[in-house]
Amino acid sequence: MSEQKGILESPQGHATLLTYDVRDASAAQDALGRLWEDVTERLHDWYRAQTLTVTVGFGLPIFEKLGRADRAPESLKSMPRLGGDAFNPADTQADLIVQICANDRSVTYHAEKAVRGHLATAFSLRDHEVGFGLPESRGVMGFVDGTGNPHGDARIPVVLIGDDEVHSGGSYLVFRKIREDLAGWENLTVDQQEKVVGRRKADSAKLDPESEPATSHRLKSSLETAAGEIEILRRSFPFAGRDEAGLLFICFVRDLAQYEAVKGQMTSRYTGTEDVGKDAIESFYTAVSGGDYFVPPQPDGDGYIGDFLFEG
Ligand code: HEM
Repeated sequence: MSEQKGILESPQGHATLLTYDVRDASAAQDALGRLWEDVTERLHDWYRAQTLTVTVGFGLPIFEKLGRADRAPESLKSMPRLGGDAFNPADTQADLIVQICANDRSVTYHAEKAVRGHLATAFSLRDHEVGFGLPESRGVMGFVDGTGNPHGDARIPVVLIGDDEVHSGGSYLVFRKIREDLAGWENLTVDQQEKVVGRRKADSAKLDPESEPATSHRLKSSLETAAGEIEILRRSFPFAGRDEAGLLFICFVRDLAQYEAVKGQMTSRYTGTEDVGKDAIESFYTAVSGGDYFVPPQPDGDGYIGDFLFEG
């Protein structure tokens, strides 16, 4: 089975993330069916030129609420509280996430309006986050984001669940709303910033090995194990409001353990067996909310998103 749209496409210029909780379980099947029909038969076609993608993911609590704990994928467990997170995972994990992306803000808005209309009968909206793209995929700290991602076919084994009848072709979406300390960041010289990130600000090239600290974000988020490199596919969007700015951090993995391992090395003093100190970028951000979601494969034929929760 193939993956949903909105995973392997390059990040578009605009993104809206909606998270929901089930309000009326008896109406959930109908709402998800209508949503999916509209997305696949109308919205994706209408807004192909603006590269609209609507991606739907399911959080662990929804499997319980709909009486299908048996269908919860193995890897979908409550988020552990990881260093740097200023939230309690149980407070921010929602039942459902809808990621809406396009290269035109009016298109993400129009799709959002349709999605909200379909889901309103069964789900209550919890969070509403709006992100955008900056030229060259830069983040609000001014650095290019995405250079070290896997590319092309190398993404498939990083992202897609391969070997399980119900979940094969699916993925996991990790979402963290990350507030960045931009005032602190702007106090650094460009040279100091580059040593924190481990890449040059102008062109995202690696630093000379002798001038790159072992605590650089590039090195601390690169994870080599005896079994090979552990990677994630990042697809994040900057956000900026009156009192906060940062990253709607989104990544896709085939197993949540990949994310936890990368983040674990960032917050640990160790890289492998060597005590080098934690990731220097950890001092410049705080994750304030988030959740982990199973993103089922694109349903075949008459199937609709989430049908595995109601059938079989
Ligand atoms: C404020 C928070 C963060 C900022 C501003 C940030 C920014 C960046 C930048 C500028 C790069 C270098 C360019 C690139 O390869 O994309 C990078 C690389 C990377 N980041 Fe982050 N990042 C943040 C948080 C995180 C988190 C929470 C994770 C995962 C848990 C993560 C995982 C990675 C990975 C895996 C790489 C690629 C490393 C490699 O070259 O192999 N980042 N990030």
